[in-house]
Amino acid sequence: MTLTTDFGPRDIYKQVERTGIKGRHLTFIDDLSREELTNLFLTAEMLEPFYRGRIPLLEGKVLCTQFFQPSTRTRFSHETAMYRLGGNVITESNPLVSSSAAKGESLYDALRVTAQYADVIVLRHPDDEVIKVIDALGDKCVPIISGGYGNVTHPTQGLLDMYTAYRAIGRPFTDMTVMIATPDLSRARSGQSFGLGLARMGAKIIYSGTTGLGTPKVIKDKLDGMKANYEEHFDLTIGQQEELIADKGIDFVYLPGCSVKKGDPGREEFLKKMQEYYFTLEGLQKIEKKTGRTVGISHSLPRNEGEFDFAIDESAHQLYFKAIGFSVALRMSLLANIVGV
Ligand code: CP
Repeated sequence: MTLTTDFGPRDIYKQVERTGIKGRHLTFIDDLSREELTNLFLTAEMLEPFYRGRIPLLEGKVLCTQFFQPSTRTRFSHETAMYRLGGNVITESNPLVSSSAAKGESLYDALRVTAQYADVIVLRHPDDEVIKVIDALGDKCVPIISGGYGNVTHPTQGLLDMYTAYRAIGRPFTDMTVMIATPDLSRARSGQSFGLGLARMGAKIIYSGTTGLGTPKVIKDKLDGMKANYEEHFDLTIGQQEELIADKGIDFVYLPGCSVKKGDPGREEFLKKMQEYYFTLEGLQKIEKKTGRTVGISHSLPRNEGEFDFAIDESAHQLYFKAIGFSVALRMSLLANIVGV
C-alpha cells in the first residue's frame, strides 16, 4: 500500500474546488461524472452538521426560485439551503399569475432577465421543451438547476435519493441493487433521475412497470449509452415483485409516486393499477425473514392513500422521511458547488 499525497484536514473550499462544477446548468443527473457525483456527496457530508445552523459560504449571493408547478420539498429545501449558506432568496411560486409570464413574457426572456438579479436559478416547469430554452441560453444565463422538467428529469430529487441510499446502505454504489417500481414509468421523473444517477455510479437497477408505460426513449438511450446494468419487468403482481426483491438481492425499493393529479382523467385507472405496487410492512417483513435483509423503501413524496402501506412509516424500512433530513445538506452542497465558494 502507498500513501496518498492528496492528504490533509478536510477543507470545504478545497473540496468544492475538487468537485469542479462551478457555473454549470444541471438538467440531467448524468450531466455529472462519477467523480463529480462522489465529490458532491462528500461536500454534502461535510455540510450535514450545518443543515440546521449556518455556514456563510455564499454570503451576498442570491438564489432565484421559479416554480411553474406546485412544490413543497424542492422549493423549500433549496431556499433553506441558500439561507443556511448565508445567501438570500427571491422567489416566484406562481409565475403564471404573478410574474410577467401572465402578460405573455417568454421563459427565455424571463430567465435572461432574472439571471441579472440572481447568481443561480432553480426552475420547475411542466414541459420537457424547457430543456431547449436552457440549451439556447447557454452561458448567457447564470446556472439553472432543474427542480423538475416535464416527465423526464428531476435531478436534485435523484441526487437526494442517491445520497439517501449511500447513507442508509453504507456500501459502494457498485454493490447496490435498487428497484424502481411504479405503474407509470413514462411519467416518473424522479425515478428516471434516480435511475440515471445509479447507472452513472455503477449500481444495478431493476425497473418494474406496466407494458406501454415504460421508461421514455431519451432516458433509455442514456442508460444504453452508459452501458447501464439494468433489467425491466412489466405487469408483475405485488407477490411477484416481492419474490423479485428476495431473489435479486434488492437493497432499496423506490416508489416515484402518482403522476396523475387529483381531477386528471385516468387517475382512477392509475389508482387501480397501484394496487399491484402496494408494498406492505408485512411483505417487507416476510422478505426479511427469508433473506435476513432489511429492504429500505423510499418514495419521492407527496404520497396518496393507496400507494403503499403507511404502517411502514414507523419501521426500519422507512427511508422517505429520513431522506428529508438529508435534503438541505444535499442542496447546500449543490448550491455551494455550482455557485462556487
Ligand atoms: N419530491 C418533490 O419533488 O416534492 P415537491 O413536489 O413537494 O417539491
